[in-house]
Amino acid sequence: MKKLWGGRFKEGTEKVVEDFTSSLSFDVRLWKYDIAGSVAHVKMLAKQKIILRKDAELILQGLQEIKEEIQTGRFRFSDKLEDVHMNIEHALTRKIGAAGGKLHTARSRNDQVALDLRLFLRDEISGILKLIGKFQKVLVTTAEKHIDTVMPGYTHFQKAQPVLLAHHLLAYYEMLDRDMQRFEDCLKRVNVLPLGSAALAGTTFPIDRKYVARLLKFPSISENSMDAVSDRDFVIEFISASSILMAHLSRLSEEIIIWNNDQFGFIELPDAFTTGSSIMPQKKNPDVLELTRGKTGRVFGNLMSILTVMKGLPLAYNRDMQEDKEPVFDTVDTVKSCLLVLTEMFPKARFNSKAMQQSAEKGFLTATDLAEYLVKKGMPFREAHSVTGAIVKYCIDGDRAMGDFSSCLRQERRSGPDRAHD
Ligand code: ARG
Repeated sequence: MKKLWGGRFKEGTEKVVEDFTSSLSFDVRLWKYDIAGSVAHVKMLAKQKIILRKDAELILQGLQEIKEEIQTGRFRFSDKLEDVHMNIEHALTRKIGAAGGKLHTARSRNDQVALDLRLFLRDEISGILKLIGKFQKVLVTTAEKHIDTVMPGYTHFQKAQPVLLAHHLLAYYEMLDRDMQRFEDCLKRVNVLPLGSAALAGTTFPIDRKYVARLLKFPSISENSMDAVSDRDFVIEFISASSILMAHLSRLSEEIIIWNNDQFGFIELPDAFTTGSSIMPQKKNPDVLELTRGKTGRVFGNLMSILTVMKGLPLAYNRDMQEDKEPVFDTVDTVKSCLLVLTEMFPKARFNSKAMQQSAEKGFLTATDLAEYLVKKGMPFREAHSVTGAIVKYCIDGDRAMGDFSSCLRQERRSGPDRAHD
């Protein structure tokens, strides 16, 4: 198969090199965006009279047919053609002849691939924003349902003060809210048209980039062609925002795993969202949550991978940048699947309000309230802290709860105690 760039070569490409350089197995995922970008580009070429209108029409018709063939699984992709862009252009020329060769006028794969990836991410970010919103709704509904449920709040993973389950869950609502803001902000920088930058230096053709931007609904166009084809900071930002989101989902998963442990018994996970053990018949494991926690590692890895790919690259495009796609695709898939499964699982989990309440009653969680009470009665806070500490110690030594202590305090009062602080 003759390469689209084969003109200056005497020999064909080694099979091992074709295999090594091909990105088709993963960038095939960009086909829809590649065609959308080409459609806008060819309309602009015709409007600017860079190509004849009749050629543009042939190209548009050909692209439409290719789109239908891919959609219906009839299109034959070939690894020999390196990537999705070459596959589509090659098929176009086979279909419509010489006019197909005019599509790539005033364009390079460098600005083409940057465009495709931006179009792809723009769509995926909108989808992720919707999924975060849905999960937030589930958290709010669960919080409302358990508005009176008291549970222990922890610091250092030691019982600290009583809190409401709703308070705890809505902490995650806030984290997800900031995640949303980060994705929305990232979207502004994704949503910039790079097309027209060509290989790196722009083009001598009288292109109309603003027109292409309007067709593809980009609010702005890139200012510097070398930057536009050679940076992937929008990818880094996207994976960073995803990493932070995953860290939040991972923390939540970790907490539910702990709450689900029978020593806590705060939550029971639905059977349909747990898995059994191949050897221990009694087991019901929180694998969905463990995998969410585990998959966080993949996304962090993807971030490290793209940062490392980019760190030493001279301007402008380098083939290293082809390595941007798998981390992006994997991040999109991972983030979406985690949000989806948690959103489905959460409403079906059963929170055990009684166990939470009982746990909050043990461990002197109201010691701070007692110290504050004493302060309101006129005692300096440090003294109140120390007095309360002594009460806690007294209770621990005598195996008493704080509640028992107040009844023995009342008894002492009746028999004439020192009432200085009352
Ligand atoms: N498959 C390539 C990539 O993903 C497309 C750009 C190739 N450009 C080039 N000059 N070889 O980055």
